[in-house]
Amino acid sequence: MVLEQTITTQKLIHIDEEQLIFHLQNSQISYVLGVETGGVLAHLYFGPRIQRYHGERHYPRIDRGFSGNLPGSLDRTYSKDDVPQEYSGNNTGDYRLPAAIIRAANGARTTDFRYKDYRVHTAKPELKGLPQTYVESDDEADTLTIIMVDETLNLQLELAYTIYRERSVVTRSAKLINLSEETVNIEKIASMQLDLPTRPLEVISLPGSYARERQISRHEVRRGVTQFESRRGGSSHHMNPFIALVEPQTTEFNGEALGILLIYSGNHQLSVERDSIGQTRVTAGINEYNFDWQLEPQQVFQTPETAMVYSTTGLNGMSQSYHSLLRDRVARGKHRNAERPILINNWEATYFDFDEDKLQEILDAAAPLGVEMFVLDDGWFGHRNDDNSSLGDWFVNKNKLPEGLTKIAQQTRAKEMKFGLWFEPENISEDSELFKAHPEWVLGVPQRGRTLSRNQYVLDFSQPDVVENLFQQMTAILDKVPVDYIKWDMNRNLTEVYSPLTKPEHQGEISHRYILGVYELMERLRTRYPQILFEGCSGGGGRFDAGLLYYMPQSWTSDNNDPIERLKIQYGTSLVYPISAVAAHVGTSPDELLGRSTSMDMRSAVAMSGVLGYELDASKLSLADRKAVKTQIQFYKQHRRLIQYGTFYRLESPFTSNTVAWLFVSPDKSEALLYRFIVQGVVQPEPHITTLAGLDPQCNYVDVDSQLVYGGDELMNVGLYTTPVQTNDFTAQINYFTAQ
Ligand code: DGJ
Repeated sequence: MVLEQTITTQKLIHIDEEQLIFHLQNSQISYVLGVETGGVLAHLYFGPRIQRYHGERHYPRIDRGFSGNLPGSLDRTYSKDDVPQEYSGNNTGDYRLPAAIIRAANGARTTDFRYKDYRVHTAKPELKGLPQTYVESDDEADTLTIIMVDETLNLQLELAYTIYRERSVVTRSAKLINLSEETVNIEKIASMQLDLPTRPLEVISLPGSYARERQISRHEVRRGVTQFESRRGGSSHHMNPFIALVEPQTTEFNGEALGILLIYSGNHQLSVERDSIGQTRVTAGINEYNFDWQLEPQQVFQTPETAMVYSTTGLNGMSQSYHSLLRDRVARGKHRNAERPILINNWEATYFDFDEDKLQEILDAAAPLGVEMFVLDDGWFGHRNDDNSSLGDWFVNKNKLPEGLTKIAQQTRAKEMKFGLWFEPENISEDSELFKAHPEWVLGVPQRGRTLSRNQYVLDFSQPDVVENLFQQMTAILDKVPVDYIKWDMNRNLTEVYSPLTKPEHQGEISHRYILGVYELMERLRTRYPQILFEGCSGGGGRFDAGLLYYMPQSWTSDNNDPIERLKIQYGTSLVYPISAVAAHVGTSPDELLGRSTSMDMRSAVAMSGVLGYELDASKLSLADRKAVKTQIQFYKQHRRLIQYGTFYRLESPFTSNTVAWLFVSPDKSEALLYRFIVQGVVQPEPHITTLAGLDPQCNYVDVDSQLVYGGDELMNVGLYTTPVQTNDFTAQINYFTAQ
């Protein structure tokens, strides 16, 4: 018995050959699937680890009426319309959402995948050209591939499941291989499907808008279909490619949470359907909107990957699993686990109006404060003096920088700071040399006007020549100028998604080919310049997704620097994304977008809860603010590793409460940094207690400022009052504890 248990804990994939049941299992979770009558691939279980799945629980057979049975079968009690499945076909009696829709050469949209075989790989095979999770050693994970076939169409569908040994994570993707002699068209191909048994569930998503990204939304899963999607060409400000299914009673610390995250930056679609008998189907993948991929004989289509996380310790447990997965097994390169430099960016200091003297002034003012990097933002190229020209012309604007970029890079280095540069490679202005030379490189439908957004168009990144041109232009600069950091911006969504250089029958592929082209350029640049730290950006946080993190370990979170708005944006972002990815800057007061006035303490406390930077003119800071910034920077440097790489706990939510709190705990629990905020001042406020989490209950902790001593168990149960009592609007309080 003991021997059997030891073996089970070591093996990640258990296969019952007789019953054809596949059990993916680690010390925390189990995921079970099996082959049902007729080769239908059934979903059996996803949840806390079970030692062994005996296969004695059988799906109840009942004639549901108006639910077809398997072709050729007289058994009216068995229907694909109700049995929970791993990946449903289309138009063969399962009326719930299909995972795939494939159009055959004869026009039929009918697919029926049945189990054929399986393969097991140690570790994890690479998905070519796509962002993905990875392993660093062969024994870190195992992968099960289930092979399904549609015999009529002669299509093979391979469903890949990877289970990590030490993580509550299963990743999934699908691959379609055309083994027939005829071309088929893929109209929809999800990366995964999950059919959950009947029970009350709620769904959490991250909708938003420009400057108000990733707000937490939660509601009951009701009868019918709810879609969480982007049709904008990018993952978008408007709906992040993530959902969580939770129990109604799930909180930040208790209850089940099942996260589904798509590792992709293009059009996405996560659908939740509750059927007539209370079961819930989830599908996630590339959005089927305007998608029509022609798959010729012998060709293969690989979907993006999804990462499913299962937590029994509420939303914080789910988020912590995502943080560590994205930080350590999606992000790559030398900056992956490195402390991120504190930067100052000239955008809100100067916008387009700068010259060498002005930049020098900012450098002179910022360096003594302890800032570590200067970022030259938009406006340094072509003849760009406003946002109406020059995108596509990545050569220096000699009117502003007569001595070129090398000079400003050297001036920055002379101040012992790193030098960063802004690019927007995917867009083009009509007023540009590139547009004159290559109007055919712009997305747009012939004879039809193109929609302008920020007075710019989108380059056709589905074309290898376009990717190559941008690579050449960018390397011409990066080979010469010592650049330490690139901010990669993208300031509009796609419209008139049509590639003038592509044949009509391939136009339905352009949205996906576009993002593949973007990924290719990013991959080539990061490979050529491993020393450069890349930061993703899309008009703030419009492409803050797991796909981008594979190429760029951090992202600009929002153009909104107002700290009160930021509480919600950063709280929502932390549901999935690690703090080391969340760029957060101290802006001016009143705030540039909102006009709200807040104290330097409040602004800095919120920005210090992410990757700290400054979005202001350092040369215009008052003496008091200079002093404050210097102190903040010293404090941040001292605690940077704890903040960026510690365990993050959300304690009190800005979506439900006037007091907001979060906490960073070091991996060995010897340090903890508590941030508490009060949004609105209240006369005669109620006494408020915050309880901490994640500490060692056996240890005593000293509050370093006050020298007061508390037990870890006390801080986690008895908690702390907010003192002194605050009656002002927008206040912040920081407590740093060390274990004795
Ligand atoms: C949008 C970004 O979010 C800003 O930080 C800034 O880089 C501007 N674009 C520049 O155009």
